[in-house]
Amino acid sequence: MTDGPVIAIVETGRGEYGLQPLIRARELGLRPVLVTDDLGRYAVDDASRELIERTVHAVVSADTTDGAAVTEALRPYQERGELCGALAVIDYYVTVVAEAARALGLPGLAPQAAHAARNKLRTREVCLEHGVPAPRFVRAMSAREAVRAAESVGFPCVVKPLTEAASIGVRLCRTAEEVAGHYGLLTESALDMRGIAKPGGVLVEEYLTGYELSVEVLTTGAGPQVVGVTDKALAPHPYFVEIGETFPTQLPDAVRDEAVAVALAALRAIGHDFGAAHVEIKMTADGPRLVEVNARMAGAQIGRIIREATGLDLLAEVLRLHAGLEPELSVSRNAAAASRYLTAVDGGVLDGFGGVDLVERLPGVLAVDLYARPGTEVRRGRSNADVLGHLVVRADTPAEAARWAETAALMLTAEVRPADEPC
Ligand SMILES: Nc1ncnc2c1ncn2[C@@H]1O[C@H](COP(=O)(O)OP(=O)(O)OP(=O)(O)O)[C@@H](O)[C@H]1O
Ligand SMILES: [Mg+2]
Repeated sequence: MTDGPVIAIVETGRGEYGLQPLIRARELGLRPVLVTDDLGRYAVDDASRELIERTVHAVVSADTTDGAAVTEALRPYQERGELCGALAVIDYYVTVVAEAARALGLPGLAPQAAHAARNKLRTREVCLEHGVPAPRFVRAMSAREAVRAAESVGFPCVVKPLTEAASIGVRLCRTAEEVAGHYGLLTESALDMRGIAKPGGVLVEEYLTGYELSVEVLTTGAGPQVVGVTDKALAPHPYFVEIGETFPTQLPDAVRDEAVAVALAALRAIGHDFGAAHVEIKMTADGPRLVEVNARMAGAQIGRIIREATGLDLLAEVLRLHAGLEPELSVSRNAAAASRYLTAVDGGVLDGFGGVDLVERLPGVLAVDLYARPGTEVRRGRSNADVLGHLVVRADTPAEAARWAETAALMLTAEVRPADEPC
């Protein structure tokens, strides 16, 4: 296994979750190279440092906010004929990886398509040009413009950053004051959550009233292959924290097909020609509307529930595709799975978790993973980054998987005391 082809993974998610692509690459006989500008983001303690050392072939230091810098950092591997591919598993690096892959002659997404997916304003513009059903939108460059934009798209509206992920900074605003206040918050920093320069301003969008699903796609030489559709559950507004997923969707085929048609139209509009895509759709009274296109594999536990439901290991197939191999999208199981996420109801200090013993008695529970450490400060969930833990359930049908998962989620509690109250 030590002399397999090298695959470059440019940054990754935090915690154990982020190591999965590296581990899976190893299992596939590839040599994973982690390209990062800050190894400390992942090697947070001795255990993670050791796991990274055991898993990666090498850690390559580079300015991962810059396609040319990543290209140069990987060039020695390419010149030695070792490098077979490069992959971004989180949104922030999709464009950089597309540029580096193009420069190094590796399989990859067209850089223009990567940019169109990565920048929510660009997504909206190309989708508007191509007639993809989506919310009305205005980019605002000042608080005053944001309020005017909200008046033009109508209240309530959604105010969001152009290039974050995990719902960070996405907020429902009902009044001009909320819009102006949120504009101020979003534009306080010139850098995004990964330290990359942000485009200026915010997007103000029409609020799509409906339920949410996502369409998981893998685009190969044979065109876009729809892996399936995921039902999503969200926490109450004004934020949009994802608190659950079920795969496959429980919706009737006709509804599912309408959503898939809009997702594929959006992928055509941005020119998606390679790799995974996770396309988010709101089903409204007027039909499906595009929320956004992510030119990467679905995050959170979606890959896991697809694997539990179908036997298809999407992460492995995405790695194979980027390594220049033919992915195998065959399904070996006809079941269903669901995930649910735990967030704090109120802010304070996390004392611990309750109900794990009850959840473990339920049928089909495959994982209860609680990563927030007792003693740490938590807040009411505002984005997916505030999730404290999750559970995964498998059942024969999506309806059963969703019911068991919801039942489990209601048993699980995060015990939080006010920050100023002694324990
Ligand atoms: N115009 C809108 N109308 C209604 N809801 C919206 C709108 N825009 C965004 N949302 C909600 O906010 C969530 C996050 O928005 P969006 O997908 O644009 O941000 P993101 O940070 O890239 O998300 P992620 O990376 O988690 O997929 C969406 O999944 C959706 O639930
Ligand atoms: Mg999204």
